[in-house]
Amino acid sequence: MKQFIKALPKVELHLHIEGTLEPELMFELAQRNGVEIPFQSCDEIRAAYNFHNLQSFLDIYYQGADVLIHEQDFFDLTWAYLLRCQQDNVLHTEIFFDPQTHTDRGISFDTAINGIHRALEQAKLELGISSKLIMCFLRHLDETSAFETLRQALPHKDKIIGVGLDSSELGHPPQKFERVFQRAIEHGFITVAHAGEEGPASNIQDSLELLKITRIDHGVRCTEDRALVEQLVENRTPLTVCPLSNIKLKVFDEMGQHNIVELMRQGLCVTINSDDPAYFGGYMNDNFLAVAGAHPMSETEIAQFTLNAIEASFIGEDEKARLNRITREYLANNA
Ligand code: HPA
Ligand code: ZN
Repeated sequence: MKQFIKALPKVELHLHIEGTLEPELMFELAQRNGVEIPFQSCDEIRAAYNFHNLQSFLDIYYQGADVLIHEQDFFDLTWAYLLRCQQDNVLHTEIFFDPQTHTDRGISFDTAINGIHRALEQAKLELGISSKLIMCFLRHLDETSAFETLRQALPHKDKIIGVGLDSSELGHPPQKFERVFQRAIEHGFITVAHAGEEGPASNIQDSLELLKITRIDHGVRCTEDRALVEQLVENRTPLTVCPLSNIKLKVFDEMGQHNIVELMRQGLCVTINSDDPAYFGGYMNDNFLAVAGAHPMSETEIAQFTLNAIEASFIGEDEKARLNRITREYLANNA
């Protein structure tokens, strides 16, 4: 089963590029850029990754991003993640970046996006990995800041497929961003949002209705509303679930209690993703292995997560058909 998972074709749909900053690269960039960080070693950094909820993670995650200064830093960060995609047989990835985490420190929107985009282009050519880029608004910041971020994104519209919403869910409901999402849609962006991670199921419903999202990031608390679950099954609304993240941030106490497999068996379009792999202890293969380790599944069920992710992705129909063919062939030859 381990071998089956490792070589299974994969598609990732929930990945914060700033969350792929491994301690080794954090150290290297801190030295290269003369940025002080409050750690003496990589072991010390890893020891600090002991979270009790989303906010305790976010505090460390935003601090880590301080070492990203130049376009080359954003390139190096993204390239390192793409090499991990290659190792885990991720064929397509849709990644988030948080422009405000950088613009609020005086790093320009252009610096961040140009470095990320250059790495994504190179990966297409050299690694055969395709990608889409989604920019997230930080929900703990205000609507004005989100509008300003949207304005800065407009010259880069060709590089960005959609807008998302991340950061502290509690106390910052979807309503706060209804107008800016409306404007983003008018500009042609697809919308997604983190909802039902730490917040209630009503945040999922509100994101669907007010923010017109086509995919729910996390969404695991949908089970608190039976009618909502039925609606998600009926509409095949995708959920980008992040199993190791949910354990690290104590959304579930242990993997055996995670509802991802139950949701898949109920017919929801659930997918497996790594969220912030440098902080949560694993990339795509690790997430698949952790789920399968705690919830015995057939090869067909495991491959369903990839088929769901292909269905939920923002690629064209031809490319979906190609990835489906590759996955079904793999299943036929390896199950
Ligand atoms: N939730 C909210 N915001 C985030 C996350 C998450 O899981 N990861 C990075 N920013
Ligand atoms: Zn996330």
